[in-house]
Amino acid sequence: MKTLVFATNNKHKLHEVREMLAGVVEIKSLAEMGLEGDIPETADTLQGNAQQKAEWVWQRTQLDCFADDTGLEVDALDGAPGVYSARYAGEHCSFDDNIDKLLAALEGKTNRKADFRTVICLMEDGKPRFFEGRVDGCILTERYGKEGFGYDPVFMPDHFAVSFAEMPLEVKNKISHRGRAVAQLVDYLANLK
Ligand code: IMP
Repeated sequence: MKTLVFATNNKHKLHEVREMLAGVVEIKSLAEMGLEGDIPETADTLQGNAQQKAEWVWQRTQLDCFADDTGLEVDALDGAPGVYSARYAGEHCSFDDNIDKLLAALEGKTNRKADFRTVICLMEDGKPRFFEGRVDGCILTERYGKEGFGYDPVFMPDHFAVSFAEMPLEVKNKISHRGRAVAQLVDYLANLK
């Protein structure tokens, strides 16, 4: 089985993606490779950040690897927080701080449409290849559920009556932005064999 290093320090993402790639690819975490420190993500696009994170690992290990970058794009906020979703409420803010800021920004707004978009950069022999996934939905007026991470408690995907944080991980992974991007990565890797 092919081994890929996943360039993330986010334990939730590592868990989600390991579940999705079980039996297809062996995933090594940064900790398992002895890599420490914050990976820079200073680009102004999801694609640019995904590539920057994957290159960071490639330069240090020369091993095939991948990284993802995700943004929550809210219609009524002209696509914000987008590529800045992690630090929407400021540097070193918590998931709760970000949700509080989002709910305040949308207070009284009737258009609550939003989407999550994920770009994955796969680095093979130092060459980048991109995969993208998206899920449409809306921002709820308060938090629901305890599963997941990030904006999950306030994001309800279209065709569902619950938030991402109320869904079992297998259900979220089937329909989510990251799940859809990973499905494309899996297709690509399966066709290499
Ligand atoms: P990142 O730059 O890809 O780590 O993602 C940016 C931010 O988007 C994260 O800090 C989370 O707040 C949010 N995010 C990413 N993926 C998800 C998800 O699956 N559910 C909810 N929020 C997410």
